[in-house]
Amino acid sequence: MASSSTLKNESSSSTEEMNLSTLARATSLSTGLALRTLHRSITCKPISCSSTLYSLTSINPKTPLFLRSPDFTATLSDFQKWQNWAKTLALSVNSSFKDSDNGPDSEILLRELSWLIEDALENPQSLSTGSQVEVLRLRADLGDLYTLWKQRIEIRRPFQYIVGCEHWRDLVLSVEEGVLIPRPETELIIDLVCDVINQNVDLKGGLWVDLGTGSAAIAIGIGRILGDTGRVIATDLSPIAVQVAEFNVKRGVYLGENRRPWAVQLIRAVSGDSVTCEHDAVVEPAKISGEGDNSKDGSKDDELKVSCLYPTFQLKYFDKDKIAVKQGSWFDPLTEFQGQVAGIVSNPPYIPSGHINGLQAEVGRHEPILALDGGENGMSELLHLCNGAAFMLKPGGFFAFETNGEDQCRFLVDHMESVYRNSFYDLRIVPDFAGIRRFVTGNRT
Ligand SMILES: C[S@@+](CC[C@H](N)C(=O)[O-])C[C@H]1O[C@@H](n2cnc3c(N)ncnc32)[C@H](O)[C@@H]1O
Repeated sequence: MASSSTLKNESSSSTEEMNLSTLARATSLSTGLALRTLHRSITCKPISCSSTLYSLTSINPKTPLFLRSPDFTATLSDFQKWQNWAKTLALSVNSSFKDSDNGPDSEILLRELSWLIEDALENPQSLSTGSQVEVLRLRADLGDLYTLWKQRIEIRRPFQYIVGCEHWRDLVLSVEEGVLIPRPETELIIDLVCDVINQNVDLKGGLWVDLGTGSAAIAIGIGRILGDTGRVIATDLSPIAVQVAEFNVKRGVYLGENRRPWAVQLIRAVSGDSVTCEHDAVVEPAKISGEGDNSKDGSKDDELKVSCLYPTFQLKYFDKDKIAVKQGSWFDPLTEFQGQVAGIVSNPPYIPSGHINGLQAEVGRHEPILALDGGENGMSELLHLCNGAAFMLKPGGFFAFETNGEDQCRFLVDHMESVYRNSFYDLRIVPDFAGIRRFVTGNRT
């Protein structure tokens, strides 16, 4: 589930379990940052806003800011006024958020500000010294930029909700209030699935389920690596998550390893992806001229390598036969597939209820409680998923569940070994990139 710049400094009453989770999250954040320089800090809307959202059942998922049309203008001087104001606000924070709940300090906020500027300007280079441009084209109204940055600092609305997206593996996923911002450590689930299906072609062509899909990060990640006959069903109880997941499935964006405007990049696309270049500044060695152009330049058979000056490529991902999103509680929408599922993956809510108040403001006040709260000891949903796996998986079927760390992993494995002694084999606890024992995996007998 959640991670990153998440948890508040613990009070003296903290349990060992809580310290462990704090460590896990802090470590996973720094690893995420180390692994990917452009990985943005985890950020989010006050509890009152979250509660309002729970009464909402319908939203209009939004395109990430950097992909919106540059329909607005501002003079260079007005934009610079905003920039200076935003910088002053960021600097005023100093280490106060960090000291109170391990939130972002001024340095992180200034980095976010530069990302916001990159996303909001049609041509960020026009800010560079020597540029003659007097009027800038923007993807958001300057007045809205004032509001957004105020929200970032004053109510600690997460940066990802401000710019409307999160970078996760090689995807850019739309996110907004009501859906969890996908975390770096969860990316490893795709690698675990990749290893398993490479060893077992039967699983590659089977039905995979992503339970509690949120933004559909895991479902899309798995959809990309399955064979022609394999497919994914993603479920979530939250109607907002279901709508955002469907939006991401239908309209994905694939950006390659490093997102830097105006840098020459290599973009890899799996054969069959439909690729559209939004800007026509495509350079050697390969060319993409329009949708569906799968021309190759000598790269691996299933890859398309292209270079371009602005790495904004859209891939239309999958139809409903490849990735379907269904609303409902855990296995409820899947009863017809009992005993037939090739793989089950989930990153369920696993934070103990009593720890929710101690979360970093961006997380606790803004991300959906439904995505965070795992019941009294954080295990309620995880245990439900383990029990369901015994009924839903076909023989040889694989599961991978994300947990809060060591204690929850051990608890799950003990539960499965004692209650389902003959139902599973090859039960493993797998560490995340930071070395935290994070995932439990295994196969159905
Ligand atoms: C920790 S979030 C994970 C989201 C996403 N898979 C990810 O990794 O970014 C847990 C998700 O489980 C969903 N959820 C909570 N209770 C559920 C239930 N009973 N049935 C299905 N989904 C549920 C939440 O809405 C949330 O999207």
